[in-house]
Amino acid sequence: MIKININIDGYEISIPEGIPLIDAARESGFYIPGICSHPELKPSGLCGLCVVEIDGFDEPQLSCMVMPDDGMVIRTSSDQLIEIRENALREILANHPHACLDCDIRFECDRTQCKYDKPEYDRCCGHFDECELRHLTDYMGVPKGTPEYIPRDLPKITEQEMFFRDYNLCISCTRCVQACMISEGLNIYGNYFPDGKLDPSKIKPLTETDCSFCGYCVDACPTGAISLLETDFGFLGYFPMGTAGRLAIPTPPPSKKLPLNKETINQVTVNPGRFNIYHKDGKLLDSKRCKNLQEELSELMNEFTDCYFTLQPDY
Ligand code: SF4
Ligand code: SF4
Ligand code: SF4
Ligand code: FES
Repeated sequence: MIKININIDGYEISIPEGIPLIDAARESGFYIPGICSHPELKPSGLCGLCVVEIDGFDEPQLSCMVMPDDGMVIRTSSDQLIEIRENALREILANHPHACLDCDIRFECDRTQCKYDKPEYDRCCGHFDECELRHLTDYMGVPKGTPEYIPRDLPKITEQEMFFRDYNLCISCTRCVQACMISEGLNIYGNYFPDGKLDPSKIKPLTETDCSFCGYCVDACPTGAISLLETDFGFLGYFPMGTAGRLAIPTPPPSKKLPLNKETINQVTVNPGRFNIYHKDGKLLDSKRCKNLQEELSELMNEFTDCYFTLQPDY
């Protein structure tokens, strides 16, 4: 494997050649937000979240569309980038239920009774724990000025007692289109998103297509729009995400920075996963994926003083 060197946020790293910048950066501990790309799928550049600044370019670039060159100098955070990302996230959330995403009791609530009288159509679905959009908004926050969600009343379809599709939760990322192509060489969803936006008139039952129910689109979907249908007998005819060697799960956003000390390390329950250690001035000092984060951080605690850490779970 040929390696190249890039400078990212002032830090020199060595990455394999031929990997989109967003994936190479994330794998090296530099998380760049983004939801329409996936490390195993062709990027569409549709969500607009993954912008970075690159020396030599006048305008911010979509990091999922950039193949890094040796010597490239990249910045992943600035006021300009934050503004672009927040605008992109506002646009996504305007068309997606979002009442629960920044609710103070979102992790304790089962969403059947709303303490704040939010309408049912604006509450999160049953995929809250694994939802990539939810993880992303935990990381970025729901941007100020995000418009209220107006229900779209789009199709909800149960497929062969196996899949459930709810297009009210679709964010038009088109990952399902790409996943269908790489798995079965089919184009079942190919005409759903003319100009990158869902056209509801194109939605039809999968039984009226050549769909083999392979499940790649379920793996690819970052929200609850295409999911496995849980029956009284569990999930029928399909292995849950990540267990059958299907699509990998993209690197999740890191947790908030915590001071590196015994007390905070003792509270770590995430395993396995990646840690990042930062000096208090923000410089990344160490980043590693490991099986036992608590053990590893305890060993490093005395080596790094005045430091903070973040965690990224491997789901
Ligand atoms: S249902 Fe209501 S109380 Fe529960 S998480 Fe959502 S907004 Fe918060
Ligand atoms: S798909 Fe995710 S963000 Fe959307 S309603 Fe479900 S849990 Fe919430
Ligand atoms: S169904 Fe899921 S994967 Fe397909 S475009 Fe909508 S959100 Fe993306
Ligand atoms: S991840 Fe790059 S545009 Fe969506």
